[in-house]
Amino acid sequence: MRAKLALIGKDDPVTKRVLGLITQVKGFKVAYFPDPREGKVAGQLKPHVIIVQGNIFLNYQDKLKTQWARHFIPIMAYTLDPKEEQLCMEQGASDAVLLPLQEGSLTTRVRNQLKIKSLMDEMEKVDNVLFTIAKIVEAKDYYTKGHIHRVTSYSYGIGLTMGLTKRELKTLKIGALLHDIGKIAIPDSILAKEGPLTKEEMDIMKQHPLLGYRICKPLSSLNGALDIILYHHEKWDGTGYPQGLADLEIPLLARIVAVADTFDAVSSSRNYMERTLSKKDAIILLEEESGTHFDPDIVEAFLKNLRKELRR
Ligand SMILES: [Fe+2]
Ligand SMILES: [Fe+2]
Repeated sequence: MRAKLALIGKDDPVTKRVLGLITQVKGFKVAYFPDPREGKVAGQLKPHVIIVQGNIFLNYQDKLKTQWARHFIPIMAYTLDPKEEQLCMEQGASDAVLLPLQEGSLTTRVRNQLKIKSLMDEMEKVDNVLFTIAKIVEAKDYYTKGHIHRVTSYSYGIGLTMGLTKRELKTLKIGALLHDIGKIAIPDSILAKEGPLTKEEMDIMKQHPLLGYRICKPLSSLNGALDIILYHHEKWDGTGYPQGLADLEIPLLARIVAVADTFDAVSSSRNYMERTLSKKDAIILLEEESGTHFDPDIVEAFLKNLRKELRR
């Protein structure tokens, strides 16, 4: 399959020169793409690499990126201005090309971006497999349906209230979705058991954070989320597992997911929990355990959101 390159800026003379440089080499299919300056979107079209003028990249990069938000597509910016070249790299272009270029070197750089794209696509596939495993865990664990998504949305709400950065919020989301992935390695007889677990069964259950950590560790794209997977059962007073970390030793994102996860666990029906609490009683439980099980600042941020929601 020929690689599809998207050029933006049809009537621009420099873009035409860039097109000339690329079409000298076979193997690429080049198409002009809707210009974000005209408010147009690309719809279903999905290129392998986007090639765009530096100034359009700097002014419209969010628009360009959100059109294909679910997939990684490298954006190469080109410019005649060395300062703009630098700025494009700083602002997150996959590559910035300073024109004029020697014949052939643009195609080499496009090829490099295509290699990166194909590696990222492979990684995306592996990530998707992991998210599928997380869904299987949800089904196996006899949680009330939707546990993972509720934990993710509660966690995200807390993160927003606490003013986390975009990058932290993204990591929080991935970690929350995968937090219990290690349960895939826990026997069904324990996950689906009716009634409370024995001490031995509970010990096996408590291995799921470490098992999940080991499953996700080889994937560098999930590095940030590992802390959440490993530490979401630690407690503020140091009585949690697997390492018995206390207060600020527990990574912030793991402290957030701990609150969201417990709230959903106690307010949803689960076989090894003795009872299910109403949302109001679950709030009381969080308040009672604030400062022992949970980071008080996070409980406060969560309840602020939740009370607002309950009043609606
Ligand atoms: Fe867990
Ligand atoms: Fe959970």
